[in-house]
Amino acid sequence: MRFSKASCIGVVGSGAMGSGIAQVAATAGNQVFVYDTNEQALQKAKTNLTVTLSKLVEKQKISQEESDSILSKIEFVNSQEKFSTCDLIIEAIVENLEVKKSVFSSLEKIVSDTCVLASNTSSLSITSIAAACKLPQRVIGIHFFNPAPLMPLVEIIPGIATGQGLAEDCKALILSWKKTPVICKDTPGFIVNRIARPYYGEAMRIAEEGIADIATIDWAMKTIGGFKMGPFELTDLIGHDVNYIVTETVWKEFYFDQRFKPSLMQKRLLEAGFFGKKSGRGFYNYAEGVELTKPTEDLEKGNYIFNRIICMLINEAYDALYLQVANEEDIDLAMTKGVNYPKGLLAWSKEIGLKNVVATLQDLYDTYLEDRYRPNVLLRKLAK
Ligand SMILES: NC(=O)c1ccc[n+]([C@@H]2O[C@H](COP(=O)([O-])OP(=O)(O)OC[C@H]3O[C@@H](n4cnc5c(N)ncnc54)[C@H](O)[C@@H]3O)[C@@H](O)[C@H]2O)c1
Repeated sequence: MRFSKASCIGVVGSGAMGSGIAQVAATAGNQVFVYDTNEQALQKAKTNLTVTLSKLVEKQKISQEESDSILSKIEFVNSQEKFSTCDLIIEAIVENLEVKKSVFSSLEKIVSDTCVLASNTSSLSITSIAAACKLPQRVIGIHFFNPAPLMPLVEIIPGIATGQGLAEDCKALILSWKKTPVICKDTPGFIVNRIARPYYGEAMRIAEEGIADIATIDWAMKTIGGFKMGPFELTDLIGHDVNYIVTETVWKEFYFDQRFKPSLMQKRLLEAGFFGKKSGRGFYNYAEGVELTKPTEDLEKGNYIFNRIICMLINEAYDALYLQVANEEDIDLAMTKGVNYPKGLLAWSKEIGLKNVVATLQDLYDTYLEDRYRPNVLLRKLAK
């Protein structure tokens, strides 16, 4: 399989991700067809894209000609007919395995035998999506981050039946779209959504234990850790409907490993419909006139919080490295380019000192007697 610059790309689903991916593909010079079963969603995507591009022109990020050219390359369609001419289809519909399987199997009836079928799933198994297809060798994961036009990282995930060389071809294509591709194993959460779990989970655990309130934890991770957003404001932005479900999926897929255990604190928000910023309330209350909670700027406590969360993140990065989810370089690239971490976690571990990281984890393990805190075998070996 070889893609050219003038490839024809199909996108299934015109939501947040599908429309962003369409914009990226058209900006790179491809003809793009965006299909959605919901006519309103399709219209909304079209309007949003026009508004986004005109803002980019206003800010002089792109010229009027470039904007016109991008718009002319994207066609929003309410039938899948045009997919018959496509070289690659990227699916970005609801995160539901059964629905994705049925969409992939029906796509095969329309597309040519050489067309590659990719899923933008955040946490589902590429191998099981591919199993619904007659030609599973053409199925692969191509996982963009939100918002796709701004976030550089793209994870490329071959399933066990994916044809040899397809991941490399997709990597070359994504590079030509001026993105940063990394190849990873088909394991729950791939790289980013696996390694980042403690950023949310450990922060919630610290709050649940009453060690610090949410504003203080956010403050510690931003001012001491240098993260752009604290765990609570970030999950409020992502939306608890999305973030909690990814956590729960990863936890279930890892056979209920304690390290990925979801938080009841977050589940209650979900049950209450407090999805975060988009619904006006999440961990914080965004209602007009309500002042956001203020942190207690206690440096000693801040250091404890930062150290505990960063060591848990580093442990996860070593676990992914040990189990060959991706190589060292890609693991660090993924966290800096996919979720804006100030440094790659493996590089960061060397700055902190591997012995210090192991000591923190061992101390947590001895204190709590919970498997969640066990230091990874590779990390322990290297620390010695
Ligand atoms: N939102 C994120 O931050 C993010 C990041 C990376 C990956 N993802 C993944 O991308 C996918 C899409 O997420 P999203 O946030 O864009 O969702 P979204 O809800 O914004 O959009 C999904 C769109 O798919 C359409 N759709 C549903 N079923 C369909 C079908 N059978 N055929 C055609 N269209 C259909 C819906 O009408 C909707 O417009 C999910 O798998 C999600 O896990 C999301």
